[in-house]
Formats: sequence, C-alpha cells, structure tokens
Amino acid sequence: MDLSADLGFLRLKNPVIAASGTFGYGPEFEPFINLEKLGGFVVKGLYFDPRPGNPPPRLVETPSGLINAIGLQGIGVRAFAEKILPRLRDLDTAVIANVCGADDEEYVAVAEFLSREKGLAALELNISCPNIRKEGACPAFSPDATRRLVARVKAATPLPLITKLSPNVTDIASVALAAEDGGTDAVSLINTLLAMAIDVETRRPKLANVYGGLSGPAVRPVALRMVHQAASRLRVPVIGMGGIMTGRDAVEFIIAGARAVQVGTANFVDPAAAVRIAAEIESFCRERNIPRAADLVGTLRSS
Ligand SMILES: Cc1cc2nc3c(=O)[nH]c(=O)nc-3n(C[C@H](O)[C@H](O)[C@H](O)COP(=O)(O)O)c2cc1C
Repeated sequence: MDLSADLGFLRLKNPVIAASGTFGYGPEFEPFINLEKLGGFVVKGLYFDPRPGNPPPRLVETPSGLINAIGLQGIGVRAFAEKILPRLRDLDTAVIANVCGADDEEYVAVAEFLSREKGLAALELNISCPNIRKEGACPAFSPDATRRLVARVKAATPLPLITKLSPNVTDIASVALAAEDGGTDAVSLINTLLAMAIDVETRRPKLANVYGGLSGPAVRPVALRMVHQAASRLRVPVIGMGGIMTGRDAVEFIIAGARAVQVGTANFVDPAAAVRIAAEIESFCRERNIPRAADLVGTLRSS
C-alpha cells in the first residue's frame, strides 16, 4: 500500500502534514510522537523579529471548535535559524516554514532569510492573518494583492512556495487563481474563519482581541467546499485543511481534490492526531483494496 503524496516539487511519505500554529516549532511534539512518521509539519508563523502576540485571553472553545487570537506570537527568524532549525534539519520528514509579514517587504525579507538556511522543504506563505491586520488589509482578501505578493516572494526564494489562503472571502477560486498566476507552486486552505464569542454575564467579548479565528470540526464543511472549488480550477496542487480529526475526514478532502492535508486543532485534543490520521487513511485504503492513497485524489462522483 503506497501512502505517498506527490506535490510535484515535493514527495511526502504520507499525505498528512501538521498545520502551522498548532504544532509549535516541531520539537515540542517529540515526547508524544516520532516526527518522522509525519508527511511533514509546518512550523509556527515566523515574522522577521520576535513578536509577543495579542494580550490574553487568546483562546476560547465554541461548539465543535476553537476561536484563537494568538496574534502570531513568535521568536522571529534569527532565533528559529539558530536554535530550532539545526534540530530539525536531519529529520526524514518535510519541514515547512510559515512565512508572515506586516507588509510585503517583511514577507520578502523573511523568505530571503529562510532561503539561506538549510533544512527547509518549502515555504508556506501565510497571507491570511485573521488576527493581525485591520479587516481588508490582508493580501488574501484581494486577488490583485495576492498575485503581487506571491510574485515578489517567489522571485525572492528558490524554495517551493505554498500560498495559504483565507476563507474570509466570497470567491475563493479567484484568489486561488491569482496565487497560481503569481507563480505559487501550491495552495493550502483554509486558514481560520473570522469569528467572535461573548460572555453574556459581563457582556464583554471573550477574547481580548474581540475577534479571532475559528478552527476545528465546526469549519470542516466550509473548508471542504472551498478546497473543492479551488481544486476544480487550479493546475497547481491543493493542500486541504479545516477541522480534520480522523482519517475519514482527511479522505473527504482528498476526494474533493486535495493532494495532501493538514491537521491543526486536532493536535490540541490528541498530540498524536496527525500520525493516527495517516494510519487511518492507510487502513481506509487497505480495506477497500485501493493500492495508492493518491488514487483517491479528486475522485468525487458528481452523479
Ligand atoms: C492556535 C492556532 C494558531 C494558529 N497559528 C497559525 C499560524 O501561525 N500560521 C498559519 O498560517 N495558520 C495558523 N493557524 C491556522 C491553522 O494552521 C489552520 O489553518 C486552521 O486552524 C484550520 O485547520 P484546523 O481546523 O485543522 O485547525 C492557527 C490555528 C490555531 C488554532
């Protein structure tokens, strides 16, 4: 049984990647799992300089989901390159860095800096940032801004580029096509859905930031629809995510057209979730005599 996933620029041993911001920088999960059993993992979002993130409370549970407003707290690229990357470099799994920026120049600077380091399989361009910028300022909200930024970052790095899209748009396919036009090697989606929760006793927002990003099973049907819409239009590979908790959930995304999937919120419930989900995809295929997991990609029957 062949579980590998071919993204063209990168071959993964299985289609399951741990999602950015839910898996630390990787070593945090070493006590729980063998990182080499993952198809890959995406490290926490990196800005150029360290950032404290938003003030607490920054996380709230909702029915079947989680709203976070971490605000991309992080150690910055220099500390990542000095302290973390040397520990990840020799792992037999794809290590992907999540690139953030307050403006286009910072995105380019982060991508250039990381491209000079050894050990990264790809960059994931996080243009979706629900917790940072004022509404409307996120590149992923506009096809033109997406195309422009992707083209600039692509020109600044020899590494494969995965562009991570926001669900907070009405027409996901137009943003996905703009990322493809800009030269991205793949797209990943979805990032979190803009959301809020209110404490009715105090009548205050439950998050200090007021709004945050919703993730977990609550978002899965929306994510699946967007992955299907993007995959139906793009030539570049699509990596799907949003509420995947089990192998069957992952198979839904693969049938919708995703060549690989990412697992986020599930890591908080079960730190071994991504490894378990890969094993469950394998069992799913074995039980149905499907020789290669990749045979399931985009096999949705329309009638
Ligand atoms: C606490 C938390 C932090 C996150 N931080 C990042 C981040 O740094 N960069 C990023 O691109 N996405 C970030 N995300 C979004 C996830 O990578 C993923 O796109 C989203 O949670 C949907 O998948 P899920 O429902 O499986 O969690 C974060 C999500 C959570 C819950």
